[in-house]
Parts: sequence; structure tokens; C-alpha cells
Amino acid sequence: MTNKQELKILFSFKEIEATVNRLAEQIRKDYYDKNPVIISILKGSFVFTADLVRRLDFPMEVEFVRLASYGKGQTSSGKIIVKQGLHFPIKNRNILIVEDIIDTGYTLSFLIDYLKKREPLSIKLCALADKPSRRQVPIAIDYLGFTVPNKFIVGYGIDYSEKYRYLPDICVLE
Ligand code: IMP
Ligand code: MG
Repeated sequence: MTNKQELKILFSFKEIEATVNRLAEQIRKDYYDKNPVIISILKGSFVFTADLVRRLDFPMEVEFVRLASYGKGQTSSGKIIVKQGLHFPIKNRNILIVEDIIDTGYTLSFLIDYLKKREPLSIKLCALADKPSRRQVPIAIDYLGFTVPNKFIVGYGIDYSEKYRYLPDICVLE
């Protein structure tokens, strides 16, 4: 990456809004009577989670875990670090994981193992974006927003080296 970085809109805030509405409708149908635990992965999912849960008008709980694999670059090390674990009992609960983007799949495969040890009733996954071309481990996404090309994206909570999370649109960093 050169010093001169350019941002190009890939999905506008209007498109994101329509997509979040679509996902919320699907999730409401499946979870309105299940009192799920929404587990949001920090930091990248905080904007998406905030928008999503405000469209779900049924009982639920919202929890956060903070995981990291990326250092300051753009490629996954494959080694996942738990920066903030789950301090909430999930035995026999229905879990919906909310993630910003699935890339290699290492983060999600780690988190699913981590949660399964706590014996939940079910685990499903909602991802705002998927970059399937980079997958290293298979991951089943139950609710998917966007499929993205093999480009580095930022905005709507998603960062590059802690920058650009504030952008309302999802942009490609070039
Ligand atoms: P994975 O473990 O390789 O699937 O990576 C998942 C995490 O890497 C995501 O939660 C993001 O935080 C980060 N990530 C993957 N692709 C991108 C991207 O294009 N932009 C910003 N962060 C990304
Ligand atoms: Mg993330």
C-alpha cells in the first residue's frame, strides 16, 4: 500500500440501510419467540449491531466479545486473540453471532468453538459482508448482507488500522 490512499464507495448508506432491513426481517421471523443472545464481535461490528438490533422488536440480550487477528496490516495472522471474553452464561440459549466481515474464516471458526464449549442450544451467524475468495476454513453464514470482491473495505464500523470506522458508506481502500 502506498501513502496515497483513495476511498471509493462500494455500498452507499442507502444500500446498507435496505440490506440491514432485509436481514432484520429474516432474523425476526426466526427469533421473535426465542429470546436469543446476540453476540457482537468488537470492534468492527459495533455500527452494524446497533442498526440491526434497533430493527428487532422482540426480547433478546446483547453481548460483546472482542477478538483480534489483524495487526496493523491487511492480512490475517490466523492466530486469534481474545481481548475481551464472554462473561455471560449461554448454556441452552439460542445464539446469533453478528460479525462485520468474514475473510479467511479463522475468527469465526475460533469463536464458534469457543461458544460451543459453553453448550448453547443453537448458534447461527449473521455477517454484514463476506469475502469468499479468501476463505481458508469453511463457514456457514445464515444471514448475509453483501458479498464483496477481494478488496480491502472500510467504513460503517470497519477499519484500516483503526481509521475510517466513522464513514457512513462501505468503501474500498485503494
Ligand atoms: P478472518 O478471521 O480472516 O475471517 O477475518 C475476520 C476479521 O478480519 C474481520 O472481523 C475484520 O475485522 C477483519 N477484516 C477482514 N477483511 C477486512 C477488510 O476488507 N477490511 C477491514 N477489516 C477486514
Ligand atoms: Mg471484525
